[in-house]
Amino acid sequence: MLTRRGLVTRLLVTQAIVLVAGLVICWGVAILVGPPLFHQHLQQAGHTTQSPELDHIEDAFASANFIALAVALVTALLIALAVSVYLTRRIQGPLTALAQAAGDVAQGRHVHVSASGIGAEFDQLAVAFNQMADRLDSVEDTRRRLLSDLAHEMRTPVTTIEGYLEGLEDGVVEWDEDTASVMREQASRLIRLIEDIDDVSRAEEGRMQLELHDAAVSDLIWNAGATFRDRYARKGVNLLADPRRGAGYVVSVDAQRMAQVLSNLLANALRHTTPGGTVQLSAQVATDTVTLTVQDTGEGIPADALPHLFERFYRGDTARDRDHGGAGIGLTISRAITEAHGGRLVAHSDGPDMGAEFSVVLPARPEGRRE
Ligand SMILES: Nc1ncnc2c1ncn2[C@@H]1O[C@H](COP(=O)(O)OP(=O)(O)OP(=O)(O)O)[C@@H](O)[C@H]1O
Ligand SMILES: [Mg+2]
Repeated sequence: MLTRRGLVTRLLVTQAIVLVAGLVICWGVAILVGPPLFHQHLQQAGHTTQSPELDHIEDAFASANFIALAVALVTALLIALAVSVYLTRRIQGPLTALAQAAGDVAQGRHVHVSASGIGAEFDQLAVAFNQMADRLDSVEDTRRRLLSDLAHEMRTPVTTIEGYLEGLEDGVVEWDEDTASVMREQASRLIRLIEDIDDVSRAEEGRMQLELHDAAVSDLIWNAGATFRDRYARKGVNLLADPRRGAGYVVSVDAQRMAQVLSNLLANALRHTTPGGTVQLSAQVATDTVTLTVQDTGEGIPADALPHLFERFYRGDTARDRDHGGAGIGLTISRAITEAHGGRLVAHSDGPDMGAEFSVVLPARPEGRRE
């Protein structure tokens, strides 16, 4: 109610100021210009200055002026009041709806406001509000999912460790090499999880310390290939890493972090490609960029999963089934690291069984050219 009164009053006052200003000018002009002009015309028409007719006509003119201006003022004020009330009523509805919606969003509810139809600016405000509500909703959703996924990821190692500890206390389990290795494995799973989460938050908040040095693109490819050659051979998946493709180009990278990105991509490709398949790590150079691509002939990615791959803890169905699968955080970290280098990481797949392709695009320059 307060808002309404405020708005009507403000509109009315603004219009009244304009009206009064207009009227004062009219009045001034009418008094200063009207009578002398009228007087002059009457004289030209043959009336002498002392003529009683002249006084009479001039009195009539002054009264007509006064009545016209007074009627105009009162009518204009009434119209201004009506317009103010009408406008306020029109604005009031959408404003109240917006205030209510903002209150709802503050309470954690997801609401949308509809376009008010009272003007482009209000419609823009409604669109911006809805975008904000959607964004808040998705952030809240991610937060909720993050917490539940984190709890889920921690539960397995912690319960395993707890189970073994109880077994040891009760004498059901003996402390031998097997027990020690299970405990160690579960502890390192927890440590890796903590490191991964730390990495993601660092990178996303721009706190990741990168030690940038020039690195030859061919070296990056060669090193990544060398690290994975044995693992690929063991599974029977062909690894084609061709360092010559990036020859002559350098990138400014934190070598360890970039190796982490390529490792994650190569590990993913290996995990999702059946024996006999092929994974290719190659580079494509353009004027200012180099694109490192990991392409596999594996199980592919369904179109509806593609937009979610880089979300924290997202794992595809097949990866979820696997006990030994990762936490679903590798691609999140990889994208964050790539973006911290001023690059981008994108995924492509034509669908299930069609293989997948992950591309790291980085700023690059030909060897020998200074930045
Ligand atoms: N080459 C690929 N082919 C098919 N699916 C893939 C491929 N790479 C990633 N994915 C899908 O993307 C999901 C997320 O990958 P990401 O690397 O983030 O997690 P992860 O490998 O499951 O676990 P982590 O990397 O944390 O050990 C995977 O679970 C998988 O479903
Ligand atoms: Mg991974």
